[in-house]
Amino acid sequence: MENVVVGIDIGTSSVKAIAVNRQGEVVKVGKKELKIFHDQPGYSEQDPNDWVAAAKSCLKQINDYCQREKYVIKGISFTGQMHSLVLLGKNFEPLRKAILWNDTRSSKQCEQIREELGKYVLSNPVLEGFTLTKLLWVKENEPAIWDKAHVFMLPKDFVRYRLTGKVHMEYSDASSTLLLNPKTNDWSRKTGDIFGMKDLYPALVASTDRVGTLSDSIAEELGLSNKIEVFAGGGDNACGAVGAGVMNEDATLCSIGTSGVVLSCEAQEDKTMYHNIHMFKHAKKQMSYAMGVTLAAGDSLSWLQRTIFPDLSFPEIVDLASRSEPGSNGLLFAPYLSGERTPHGDASIRGSFIGLSGMHTQADIARAVLEGITYSLYDSISYLRQTGKSITEIISIGGGAQSQFWLQLQADIFNSTIKSLRNAEGPSMGAAMIAAYGLGWFNSLDECVQQFIEYGETYRPDEERHERYQQFYDVYRDIYQRTKGMTTRLLELARHSKIQS
Ligand code: XUL
Repeated sequence: MENVVVGIDIGTSSVKAIAVNRQGEVVKVGKKELKIFHDQPGYSEQDPNDWVAAAKSCLKQINDYCQREKYVIKGISFTGQMHSLVLLGKNFEPLRKAILWNDTRSSKQCEQIREELGKYVLSNPVLEGFTLTKLLWVKENEPAIWDKAHVFMLPKDFVRYRLTGKVHMEYSDASSTLLLNPKTNDWSRKTGDIFGMKDLYPALVASTDRVGTLSDSIAEELGLSNKIEVFAGGGDNACGAVGAGVMNEDATLCSIGTSGVVLSCEAQEDKTMYHNIHMFKHAKKQMSYAMGVTLAAGDSLSWLQRTIFPDLSFPEIVDLASRSEPGSNGLLFAPYLSGERTPHGDASIRGSFIGLSGMHTQADIARAVLEGITYSLYDSISYLRQTGKSITEIISIGGGAQSQFWLQLQADIFNSTIKSLRNAEGPSMGAAMIAAYGLGWFNSLDECVQQFIEYGETYRPDEERHERYQQFYDVYRDIYQRTKGMTTRLLELARHSKIQS
């Protein structure tokens, strides 16, 4: 019999769980796809009960395997999409679908908050993605639901509640709500009160805190032991950082999932950045991170696949891109499919291809999309560098780390060494590590990193290619200002024609 821990990631496109042994080896992966509802332009919702069902299905896949192969699950922890609002009534049942991190309906509420408190609140820019703006949207637009609201939660906290019966939120996610005071490490009820927030705040715990065990009913339903210990976990970017060993000041992560982020650890916990760079708590105590977010990173690639290359897999699209030239023969793509967070903080900007001509090939189009996603992340890196951060080595995870071509593209555009991981499991690995540390397998999360994380290939920037990309990036930087008015008008017209038809 060998002991394992399980990390469960409540992602946007799927739930994923991994079982990991004491050596950091992944012994089993469970996965289940999720539905997303886009009922109106800018809306993005999921049913919280779907997350629970998917998490149970993943646990069951893992448990069946563990029982067959003689592994024993000792601990579980969680990670998942940040910011997404789950509103529960007195019986702790969801009152409505969850409003997701990439839902942009709350622009009016953002304006109200900015008018009252300025562009930054509690070290963070006021953006549609963040939970307070979603809470205020419900308060204003769905008063009957608001009246019944008893507590708010975030995705992985809700799933953890349903598996343990214990209601908590942990700091790394709480810091992404615009309601946590980074100085006192407590809810800023003062901020909430200004906007008529009710007392909806769950109790706060640290990422590595033990919150309980699996509940008897869940243990029985899934054929698991009710002695399995459960640890709080962290937001997907905090856990992505843990799972990539990005734990100490100035260590930097680039992660490309549905969204793309560049995250750099920061020891000063209440620092306010600029250019819509966020500042959230790490899963490691006394550590935070500054982060820039591209809303549609992997999502732009999914869009490309859906609309233009339905017969190609992602690796085939990336391979096609590698056959074009740096700069995609003069074609640029701005990945603002659902607005942009960093650096523009603009929910109504939309994407564009610039420079399209009759000579452009499918390879140029594919490469322009990859380059555009990478330029957008380079925006965040450039602004992080401007705040004095030295970014010369970046650990890359997620979709962008699946191909040597895209890793080299990152090195060349970012002008930084890029390191990949041998075992790139992403946030679920960070959650598993939190459980491993929580169980006392290691004396610290850093010690767990030493055991669990092995780096793979290193990619170094090529000076000549960087300069070439820099010339195209300089044009890319102009796209936002020059297309902002046009794409906003087009969005309005499209909304209007939908209403007419
Ligand atoms: C971060 C963000 C996304 C989600 C994706 O601020 O909104 O990266 O966490 O799951």
